[in-house]
Amino acid sequence: MQIRRSLIDLDDLSTGELDAVFERTAAFEAGKVRPTLAGFACANMFFEPSTRTFASFNLAELRLGAHVINLAPKDLSLATKGESLEDTAITLSAMGIGALVVRHAESGFPARIARAFDGHVINAGDGSNAHPTQALLDIYTMREEFGDLRGRSVAIVGDIVHSRVAHSAIHGLQRLGVAIVLVGPPAFLPERYAHDGIRIERDFDAVLGECDAVMLLRIQRERFADMPIDDREYVARYRLDDARLRRLRSGAIVMHPGPYNRGMELDASVLEYIGWRYARQVHHGVAVRMAVLDVLVNGC
Ligand code: NCD
Repeated sequence: MQIRRSLIDLDDLSTGELDAVFERTAAFEAGKVRPTLAGFACANMFFEPSTRTFASFNLAELRLGAHVINLAPKDLSLATKGESLEDTAITLSAMGIGALVVRHAESGFPARIARAFDGHVINAGDGSNAHPTQALLDIYTMREEFGDLRGRSVAIVGDIVHSRVAHSAIHGLQRLGVAIVLVGPPAFLPERYAHDGIRIERDFDAVLGECDAVMLLRIQRERFADMPIDDREYVARYRLDDARLRRLRSGAIVMHPGPYNRGMELDASVLEYIGWRYARQVHHGVAVRMAVLDVLVNGC
């Protein structure tokens, strides 16, 4: 059996591996956990702030019995002593680290390290490129709600162009036959996104009654210099609030990868909405990451 080396984006997982990840996620959540990573060393390297992803990778590794080290970027010789990324990768694999979980502001950084590292690399978010484990937990959350996702519809709303979450979700949801409508102003949603059956829509109100799930996004202010649209205009057109919630289809769910900014992409009424699934997403994030680690290291 060939064991998959790394997870840089969802394309790295075959359909069989995707199924294995979801099956294992369910088993782990049902308490069927064995120390399948006992004695295996994982290192987490987060060059960008992270609460959810960092903590859940740590928990996932610990729950599978791995040895875990967290390499803070400011302490790495890479940052301060001129050591190259490639030489850092050689060093870490020489001491027996088998998996590296990497987050970085530069798109392509985890792929670069994967080429030099003799082990598994998991992308925990690179620039605006990809965030595959977030997409997996988003899909898992939707499957829990709806079962088979074929024919379901999702609106992804907001700053699409800078969102690695959106990019990986689009990939994954398309593969599973979900109808995708992207919603946002031109500066956050260029026309080029309308391809392969993906619809783009400028008017949030026009899609409220027709989707099974709404995925809200944070405006990624750290990835651009000037806000291209006035905050008040953005809020008026794209914030999910009480009036818009009332127009959602019955049974529709609302998701957000976090961190969410109250007052911008959502208001407090969303946090009370019966279909608000943020905590469910965070919950699934731990078992999904356990499943990814287990599938990569031990095979399907
Ligand atoms: C996101 C990220 O870092 O890409 N958060 C996450 O990992 N759950 C989204 C964001 O920062 O807005």
